Amino acid sequence: MKTAVCYYSRHHGNTLKVLQAMADAGEIDLIDVTKPKTASLADYGCVGFASGIYGFEFQKAVVEFARRQLPQGKPVFFVYTYGGAKGTGAKAMAEIAAQKNCPVLGEFSCKGFDTFGPFKLVGGIAKGHPDEQDLSNARRFYRDVQNKLENEVQT
Ligand SMILES: Cc1cc2nc3c(=O)[nH]c(=O)nc-3n(C[C@H](O)[C@H](O)[C@H](O)COP(=O)(O)O)c2cc1C
Repeated sequence: MKTAVCYYSRHHGNTLKVLQAMADAGEIDLIDVTKPKTASLADYGCVGFASGIYGFEFQKAVVEFARRQLPQGKPVFFVYTYGGAKGTGAKAMAEIAAQKNCPVLGEFSCKGFDTFGPFKLVGGIAKGHPDEQDLSNARRFYRDVQNKLENEVQT
């Protein structure tokens, strides 16, 4: 079954790096939510939503994309990267999933290089992240998601 991940990754492409690692572990269609292309999420067996954390939250374009496009009951998972203070993390996404009766297969997060605002003056924080260990954890996470999905379909 095909997987799509709807994402926003702008600061250093950290979140995209994590998604590309996950795509090594299984085919994923990556959908940039800022591109004016309508994707039918109904065609996918499972849908991920991914973002950097900006102002302690998931990026609003991803949240709005899910609100508009996520079909009822679709299995979902969430991915995010952050500099050091994840704030509400994927909470807004979990709320949408609950409203739409979508089972949540998991959530993955790791640090991502951050040069926002004053952090630029000190050369940034979370330097080198996502690193090889983060990417390996991301691949393992996505394999777990696939296993959960298979078990869910069988039962
Ligand atoms: C405008 C802006 C706001 C940010 N706000 C936060 C924040 O509230 N908490 C945090 O831990 N990191 C914050 N960061 C750092 C990013 O979450 C981190 O670098 C992330 O990996 C960026 O992902 P991306 O490269 O995929 O865009 C912020 C970065 C930017 C540019």
